[in-house]
Amino acid sequence: MTITSHHNEKLKEIRKLTQRRRWRERSGRFVAEGEDLLAAADAAGWPAVERLSVAGSGLPGVEVEPGVLASASGLGSGTRTLAVYEERWAERPLGPLCLYLHGVSDPGNIGTILRSAQAFGASCVALGPECADPFGPKAVRASMGALFGVPVARVGAGELSELPGTTIALVAGEGAALRELALEGELTVLVGAERDGLPDQIKQAADHVAHIPIRTHSLNAAMAATVALYELTRMAPA
Ligand SMILES: C[S@@+](CC[C@H](N)C(=O)[O-])C[C@H]1O[C@@H](n2cnc3c(N)ncnc32)[C@H](O)[C@@H]1O
Repeated sequence: MTITSHHNEKLKEIRKLTQRRRWRERSGRFVAEGEDLLAAADAAGWPAVERLSVAGSGLPGVEVEPGVLASASGLGSGTRTLAVYEERWAERPLGPLCLYLHGVSDPGNIGTILRSAQAFGASCVALGPECADPFGPKAVRASMGALFGVPVARVGAGELSELPGTTIALVAGEGAALRELALEGELTVLVGAERDGLPDQIKQAADHVAHIPIRTHSLNAAMAATVALYELTRMAPA
């Protein structure tokens, strides 16, 4: 039966999951929109709890009238299909190449970092305190489906000992140039907040402090993570 009412319970639930981090955390569920993202979930073997598609589109899922589905979509342009998924969190950060993010609060940066992590074959993205929700709509969209392909872990304040291998704090203008480090074995790259960077105690606890040589003060956090992954995978090709 086609859903024709904006007040349908499934749609109400989807709006809450899209709009409220608390609701996602409480239910342990999130929403992804669009055929490409849903295909990425399918490819990763991540089943949908619920799938809704525009009536007559031929796409799988419960059929919904186009204007009604658009009312539950977080995309300005509406969507042809969306689905609800169970969140998945890795039990702990995983090597051999892990990214640790501290206070990265822009969901677009979280999604972009996940996309780069998948592109360069990183094994995990570990989220420290005050990071944006990787399962929020902006992060999911910016990840372009990488969220379904890269394990995501949570790391509490003061739990840096959980991070795998040698830790490298990325700090603009400090320490050695990243490409000059002699590295082997498992690695975790630490990336700081958009405005404040990494806290001093994290820099001090890291095995190395390193920078990416540039002509200006700093790069955006997601750009720095991407360049670091490029450098590290070039230094020690998988
Ligand atoms: C926008 S920057 C933070 C700038 C902050 N004002 C500072 O001085 O640390 C966000 C994060 O990106 C990384 N980053 C940015 N540019 C970098 C560079 N040239 N070398 C190493 N890391 C960099 C660092 O991890 C930094 O914490």
